[in-house]
Amino acid sequence: MKKIYLNIYKPNLVNLKKAKKNLDNNNIIGMPTETVYGLAGNAYSDKSIKKIFKLKKRPDFNPLIIHFKNLNDLENEVILNTNFKKLYSAFCPGPITFILKKKKKSRISKLATARKKTVAVRIPKHKVARKLLSILKFPLAAPSANISSKLSPTSAKDVFEEFGNKIKFILDGGQCKIGLESTIVDLARKPFVLRPGSITVEKIQKILKKKIKIKKNSKRVKAPGQLKLHYSPGIPVKMNRKNAEKHQALIGFGKKFKVGKNYFNLSKKGNLKEAANNLYKTLREIRKRNFKSIAVVKIPNTEIGCAINDRLRKASNK
Ligand code: TXA
Ligand code: MG
Repeated sequence: MKKIYLNIYKPNLVNLKKAKKNLDNNNIIGMPTETVYGLAGNAYSDKSIKKIFKLKKRPDFNPLIIHFKNLNDLENEVILNTNFKKLYSAFCPGPITFILKKKKKSRISKLATARKKTVAVRIPKHKVARKLLSILKFPLAAPSANISSKLSPTSAKDVFEEFGNKIKFILDGGQCKIGLESTIVDLARKPFVLRPGSITVEKIQKILKKKIKIKKNSKRVKAPGQLKLHYSPGIPVKMNRKNAEKHQALIGFGKKFKVGKNYFNLSKKGNLKEAANNLYKTLREIRKRNFKSIAVVKIPNTEIGCAINDRLRKASNK
Protein backbone atom coordinates (compact mmCIF):
# COMPACT_ATOMS: atom_id res chain seq x y z
CA MET A 1 0.00 0.00 0.00
CA LYS A 2 1.22 3.48 -0.80
CA LYS A 3 2.31 5.33 2.29
CA ILE A 4 0.52 8.62 2.96
CA TYR A 5 2.60 11.40 4.45
CA LEU A 6 0.31 13.76 6.32
CA ASN A 7 2.91 16.46 6.87
CA ILE A 8 4.22 16.70 3.28
CA TYR A 9 2.59 19.51 1.31
CA LYS A 10 2.64 20.36 -2.42
CA PRO A 11 4.00 23.88 -2.98
CA ASN A 12 0.80 25.60 -4.19
CA LEU A 13 -0.24 29.07 -3.06
CA VAL A 14 -2.52 27.83 -0.28
CA ASN A 15 0.25 25.67 1.17
CA LEU A 16 2.87 28.39 0.81
CA LYS A 17 0.61 30.56 2.94
CA LYS A 18 0.34 27.73 5.47
CA ALA A 19 4.14 27.48 5.50
CA LYS A 20 4.32 31.23 6.15
CA LYS A 21 1.83 30.94 8.99
CA ASN A 22 3.90 28.20 10.60
CA LEU A 23 7.08 30.26 10.29
CA ASP A 24 5.35 33.43 11.59
CA ASN A 25 4.36 31.36 14.65
CA ASN A 26 7.97 30.27 15.28
CA ASN A 27 7.36 26.75 14.00
CA ILE A 28 10.02 24.88 12.05
CA ILE A 29 9.34 23.50 8.57
CA GLY A 30 11.11 21.35 5.97
CA MET A 31 12.02 23.42 2.91
CA PRO A 32 13.45 22.42 -0.48
CA THR A 33 16.53 24.08 -1.96
CA GLU A 34 18.49 23.15 -5.08
CA THR A 35 21.24 21.59 -2.93
CA VAL A 36 19.54 19.67 -0.09
CA TYR A 37 16.42 20.17 2.03
CA GLY A 38 16.66 22.63 4.91
CA LEU A 39 15.10 22.73 8.37
CA ALA A 40 13.85 26.31 8.28
CA GLY A 41 12.86 28.84 10.93
CA ASN A 42 12.68 32.62 11.46
CA ALA A 43 16.32 33.78 11.64
CA TYR A 44 15.35 36.73 13.87
CA SER A 45 13.65 34.58 16.49
CA ASP A 46 15.60 32.94 19.34
CA LYS A 47 12.61 30.72 19.93
CA SER A 48 12.69 29.32 16.39
CA ILE A 49 16.45 28.87 16.43
CA LYS A 50 16.32 26.94 19.71
CA LYS A 51 13.80 24.58 18.14
CA ILE A 52 16.06 23.95 15.13
CA PHE A 53 19.06 23.07 17.32
CA LYS A 54 16.93 20.78 19.45
CA LEU A 55 15.33 18.95 16.51
CA LYS A 56 18.68 18.43 14.81
CA LYS A 57 20.49 17.55 18.06
CA ARG A 58 23.05 20.04 16.88
CA PRO A 59 25.73 21.35 19.26
CA ASP A 60 25.01 25.01 20.01
CA PHE A 61 28.48 26.14 18.90
CA ASN A 62 27.76 25.15 15.29
CA PRO A 63 26.22 28.15 13.49
CA LEU A 64 23.43 28.00 10.88
CA ILE A 65 23.23 29.28 7.30
CA ILE A 66 20.83 32.21 6.82
CA HIS A 67 18.78 32.22 3.59
CA PHE A 68 17.68 35.45 1.88
CA LYS A 69 15.40 36.35 -0.98
CA ASN A 70 17.67 39.04 -2.42
CA LEU A 71 20.73 41.22 -2.05
CA ASN A 72 18.76 44.08 -0.46
CA ASP A 73 17.73 41.95 2.50
CA LEU A 74 21.19 40.45 2.82
CA GLU A 75 22.76 43.91 2.98
CA ASN A 76 20.80 44.68 6.16
CA GLU A 77 22.70 42.00 8.04
CA VAL A 78 26.26 41.68 6.70
CA ILE A 79 29.12 43.84 5.43
CA LEU A 80 29.61 43.27 1.72
CA ASN A 81 33.07 43.39 0.12
CA THR A 82 34.57 43.28 -3.39
CA ASN A 83 35.15 39.53 -3.42
CA PHE A 84 31.53 39.02 -2.45
CA LYS A 85 30.25 41.34 -5.18
CA LYS A 86 32.20 39.46 -7.84
CA LEU A 87 31.04 36.02 -6.69
CA TYR A 88 27.48 37.24 -6.18
CA SER A 89 27.30 38.46 -9.82
CA ALA A 90 28.69 35.19 -11.08
CA PHE A 91 26.77 32.64 -9.03
CA CYS A 92 23.70 34.07 -7.26
CA PRO A 93 21.07 33.00 -6.75
CA GLY A 94 22.70 29.60 -6.44
CA PRO A 95 24.39 26.84 -4.46
CA ILE A 96 27.00 29.00 -2.72
CA THR A 97 27.22 30.25 0.87
CA PHE A 98 29.36 33.21 1.93
CA ILE A 99 30.85 33.85 5.36
CA LEU A 100 30.76 37.60 5.92
CA LYS A 101 31.12 39.98 8.87
CA LYS A 102 27.88 40.60 10.73
CA LYS A 103 26.65 44.20 10.91
CA LYS A 104 26.26 45.65 14.41
CA LYS A 105 22.62 46.46 13.75
CA SER A 106 21.86 42.96 12.41
CA ARG A 107 18.68 41.42 13.81
CA ILE A 108 19.78 37.83 13.21
CA SER A 109 19.52 35.75 16.38
CA LYS A 110 22.86 35.40 18.17
CA LEU A 111 21.97 31.77 18.76
CA ALA A 112 21.78 31.17 14.99
CA THR A 113 25.32 32.47 14.50
CA ALA A 114 26.62 30.78 17.68
CA ARG A 115 27.56 34.29 18.89
CA LYS A 116 30.16 34.64 16.14
CA LYS A 117 31.05 37.96 14.52
CA THR A 118 30.43 36.41 11.12
CA VAL A 119 27.33 35.02 9.39
CA ALA A 120 26.93 32.34 6.71
CA VAL A 121 24.54 33.73 4.08
CA ARG A 122 23.01 32.25 0.96
CA ILE A 123 20.44 33.17 -1.70
CA PRO A 124 19.00 29.87 -2.92
CA LYS A 125 17.84 29.32 -6.48
CA HIS A 126 15.08 26.76 -5.95
CA LYS A 127 11.75 28.23 -7.13
CA VAL A 128 9.80 27.10 -4.07
CA ALA A 129 12.40 28.41 -1.63
CA ARG A 130 12.41 31.76 -3.45
CA LYS A 131 8.63 31.94 -3.54
CA LEU A 132 8.49 31.22 0.19
CA LEU A 133 11.21 33.76 1.05
CA SER A 134 9.41 36.38 -1.05
CA ILE A 135 6.29 36.26 1.16
CA LEU A 136 8.16 36.41 4.48
CA LYS A 137 9.20 39.42 6.54
CA PHE A 138 12.38 37.74 7.79
CA PRO A 139 15.25 35.60 6.43
CA LEU A 140 15.30 31.87 7.14
CA ALA A 141 17.88 30.04 9.20
CA ALA A 142 18.10 26.60 7.63
CA PRO A 143 20.65 23.90 8.28
CA SER A 144 20.34 20.70 6.26
CA ALA A 145 17.22 18.84 7.44
CA ASN A 146 18.94 15.85 9.03
CA ILE A 147 19.87 14.80 12.55
CA SER A 148 23.38 16.14 13.27
CA SER A 149 26.17 14.05 11.67
CA LYS A 150 23.75 12.06 9.45
CA LEU A 151 23.03 12.22 5.71
CA SER A 152 21.44 15.34 4.26
CA PRO A 153 17.96 14.80 2.76
CA THR A 154 17.40 15.36 -0.96
CA SER A 155 13.62 14.79 -1.05
CA ALA A 156 10.61 15.61 1.13
CA LYS A 157 10.31 11.92 2.05
CA ASP A 158 13.94 11.91 3.25
CA VAL A 159 13.04 14.78 5.60
CA PHE A 160 10.11 12.73 6.86
CA GLU A 161 12.48 9.79 7.41
CA GLU A 162 14.66 12.00 9.61
CA PHE A 163 11.99 13.71 11.70
CA GLY A 164 8.69 11.87 11.17
CA ASN A 165 5.90 13.89 12.73
CA LYS A 166 8.25 15.93 14.93
CA ILE A 167 7.85 18.66 12.33
CA LYS A 168 4.33 19.53 11.27
CA PHE A 169 5.06 20.84 7.81
CA ILE A 170 7.35 19.79 4.96
CA LEU A 171 7.13 21.72 1.71
CA ASP A 172 7.62 19.33 -1.22
CA GLY A 173 9.86 20.81 -3.92
CA GLY A 174 10.70 17.47 -5.57
CA GLN A 175 14.10 15.82 -5.74
CA CYS A 176 16.96 18.33 -5.24
CA LYS A 177 18.73 19.15 -8.50
CA ILE A 178 22.26 19.16 -7.06
CA GLY A 179 21.95 16.78 -4.13
CA LEU A 180 25.07 17.96 -2.23
CA GLU A 181 25.30 20.91 0.16
CA SER A 182 26.34 24.37 -1.08
CA THR A 183 29.95 25.44 -1.49
CA ILE A 184 30.98 27.54 1.53
CA VAL A 185 33.48 30.29 0.92
CA ASP A 186 34.87 32.40 3.75
CA LEU A 187 35.09 36.02 2.59
CA ALA A 188 35.52 37.58 6.03
CA ARG A 189 39.28 37.28 5.57
CA LYS A 190 41.61 36.12 2.78
CA PRO A 191 39.14 33.98 0.82
CA PHE A 192 39.16 30.21 1.19
CA VAL A 193 36.74 27.39 0.63
CA LEU A 194 35.41 25.82 3.82
CA ARG A 195 33.25 23.19 2.15
CA PRO A 196 33.59 22.17 -1.51
CA GLY A 197 30.41 21.91 -3.59
CA SER A 198 29.06 22.13 -7.11
CA ILE A 199 30.54 25.60 -7.54
CA THR A 200 34.12 24.42 -7.64
CA VAL A 201 37.29 26.08 -6.37
CA GLU A 202 38.39 26.42 -10.01
CA LYS A 203 35.24 28.39 -10.86
CA ILE A 204 35.75 30.66 -7.84
CA GLN A 205 39.41 31.22 -8.71
CA LYS A 206 38.45 32.20 -12.24
CA ILE A 207 36.11 34.91 -10.98
CA LEU A 208 38.40 36.24 -8.22
CA LYS A 209 41.46 35.87 -10.45
CA LYS A 210 43.56 34.43 -7.64
CA LYS A 211 44.50 31.12 -6.06
CA ILE A 212 42.03 29.97 -3.40
CA LYS A 213 42.75 27.25 -0.86
CA ILE A 214 40.38 24.56 0.36
CA LYS A 215 40.43 24.34 4.12
CA LYS A 216 41.74 20.93 5.19
CA ASN A 217 40.41 19.33 8.36
CA SER A 218 42.17 20.80 11.33
CA LYS A 219 41.82 20.58 15.08
CA ARG A 220 40.82 24.21 15.26
CA VAL A 221 37.37 23.89 13.79
CA LYS A 222 36.25 26.82 11.63
CA ALA A 223 33.04 25.26 10.48
CA PRO A 224 32.01 22.54 12.88
CA GLY A 225 30.25 20.92 9.91
CA GLN A 226 33.83 20.09 9.11
CA LEU A 227 33.90 17.91 12.22
CA LYS A 228 35.21 14.44 11.59
CA LEU A 229 32.29 12.03 11.41
CA HIS A 230 29.66 13.69 9.28
CA TYR A 231 27.37 12.87 6.39
CA SER A 232 27.22 9.39 7.87
CA PRO A 233 24.85 6.69 6.62
CA GLY A 234 25.14 4.99 10.03
CA ILE A 235 27.34 2.09 8.85
CA PRO A 236 31.11 2.08 8.10
CA VAL A 237 32.21 3.54 4.75
CA LYS A 238 35.54 2.57 3.11
CA MET A 239 36.95 4.57 0.23
CA ASN A 240 39.11 3.65 -2.77
CA ARG A 241 38.11 -0.04 -2.79
CA LYS A 242 38.04 -2.38 -5.78
CA ASN A 243 35.85 -5.18 -4.41
CA ALA A 244 33.17 -5.76 -1.81
CA GLU A 245 33.56 -8.00 1.23
CA LYS A 246 30.81 -10.17 2.70
CA HIS A 247 27.61 -8.21 3.58
CA GLN A 248 29.17 -5.14 2.08
CA ALA A 249 27.63 -2.92 -0.62
CA LEU A 250 29.95 -1.64 -3.33
CA ILE A 251 29.40 1.81 -4.81
CA GLY A 252 30.90 2.36 -8.25
CA PHE A 253 31.06 4.82 -11.03
CA GLY A 254 31.18 4.64 -14.85
CA LYS A 255 30.24 2.13 -17.53
CA LYS A 256 32.87 -0.46 -16.64
CA PHE A 257 31.43 -0.96 -13.17
CA LYS A 258 29.79 -4.38 -12.82
CA VAL A 259 26.09 -5.03 -12.26
CA GLY A 260 25.10 -7.15 -9.27
CA LYS A 261 22.89 -7.39 -6.20
CA ASN A 262 25.24 -5.50 -3.92
CA TYR A 263 26.53 -3.14 -6.65
CA PHE A 264 25.32 0.45 -6.86
CA ASN A 265 26.41 2.71 -9.72
CA LEU A 266 26.47 6.47 -9.05
CA SER A 267 26.56 7.21 -12.78
CA LYS A 268 26.66 4.65 -15.57
CA LYS A 269 27.67 7.45 -17.94
CA GLY A 270 30.59 8.35 -15.71
CA ASN A 271 29.14 11.83 -15.19
CA LEU A 272 30.27 13.44 -11.92
CA LYS A 273 27.26 15.75 -11.59
CA GLU A 274 24.95 12.77 -11.88
CA ALA A 275 27.11 10.89 -9.37
CA ALA A 276 26.89 13.78 -6.89
CA ASN A 277 23.13 13.84 -7.30
CA ASN A 278 22.90 10.11 -6.60
CA LEU A 279 25.32 9.97 -3.66
CA TYR A 280 23.00 10.54 -0.67
CA LYS A 281 20.11 8.76 -2.40
CA THR A 282 22.32 5.69 -2.86
CA LEU A 283 23.71 5.77 0.69
CA ARG A 284 20.17 5.94 2.08
CA GLU A 285 19.05 3.07 -0.15
CA ILE A 286 21.97 0.89 0.99
CA ARG A 287 21.26 1.57 4.65
CA LYS A 288 17.64 0.52 4.17
CA ARG A 289 18.73 -2.77 2.64
CA ASN A 290 20.58 -3.80 5.81
CA PHE A 291 24.12 -4.04 4.49
CA LYS A 292 26.73 -4.03 7.26
CA SER A 293 29.15 -1.65 5.56
CA ILE A 294 29.86 0.22 2.34
CA ALA A 295 32.89 0.16 0.04
CA VAL A 296 33.32 2.85 -2.60
CA VAL A 297 35.56 2.69 -5.68
CA LYS A 298 37.93 5.55 -6.39
CA ILE A 299 35.96 8.60 -7.56
CA PRO A 300 37.82 11.12 -9.79
CA ASN A 301 38.90 14.07 -7.67
CA THR A 302 38.04 16.75 -10.23
CA GLU A 303 35.17 19.25 -10.48
CA ILE A 304 32.26 18.21 -8.22
CA GLY A 305 34.17 14.95 -7.62
CA CYS A 306 36.13 16.94 -4.97
CA ALA A 307 32.87 17.55 -3.10
CA ILE A 308 31.86 13.88 -3.42
CA ASN A 309 35.23 12.79 -2.00
CA ASP A 310 35.01 15.39 0.78
CA ARG A 311 31.64 13.96 1.93
CA LEU A 312 32.87 10.36 1.58
CA ARG A 313 36.01 11.13 3.61
CA LYS A 314 33.85 12.56 6.39
CA ALA A 315 31.39 9.67 6.18
CA SER A 316 34.36 7.32 6.55
CA ASN A 317 35.78 9.38 9.41
CA LYS A 318 39.04 10.16 7.64
O1 TXA B 1 23.26 23.59 0.82
C1 TXA B 1 23.30 24.02 1.97
O2 TXA B 1 24.18 24.81 2.37
C2 TXA B 1 22.18 23.57 2.93
C3 TXA B 1 20.86 24.16 2.44
C4 TXA B 1 19.70 23.82 3.33
O3 TXA B 1 21.02 25.54 2.29
N1 TXA B 1 22.47 23.93 4.27
C5 TXA B 1 23.47 23.36 5.00
O4 TXA B 1 23.53 23.81 6.31
O5 TXA B 1 24.23 22.52 4.54
P1 TXA B 1 24.35 23.09 7.48
O6 TXA B 1 23.98 23.80 8.71
O7 TXA B 1 24.07 21.64 7.42
O8 TXA B 1 25.84 23.42 7.14
C6 TXA B 1 26.28 24.73 7.32
C7 TXA B 1 27.74 24.78 7.58
C8 TXA B 1 28.13 24.16 8.89
O9 TXA B 1 29.27 23.36 8.66
C9 TXA B 1 28.49 25.36 9.76
O10 TXA B 1 29.49 25.07 10.70
C10 TXA B 1 28.98 26.36 8.72
O11 TXA B 1 28.12 26.17 7.63
N2 TXA B 1 28.86 27.75 9.18
C11 TXA B 1 27.75 28.44 9.47
N3 TXA B 1 28.04 29.69 9.91
C12 TXA B 1 29.37 29.80 9.87
C13 TXA B 1 30.29 30.84 10.22
N4 TXA B 1 29.89 32.03 10.66
N5 TXA B 1 31.62 30.59 10.05
C14 TXA B 1 32.04 29.39 9.59
N6 TXA B 1 31.22 28.37 9.26
C15 TXA B 1 29.92 28.56 9.41
MG1 MG C 1 24.43 19.68 7.40
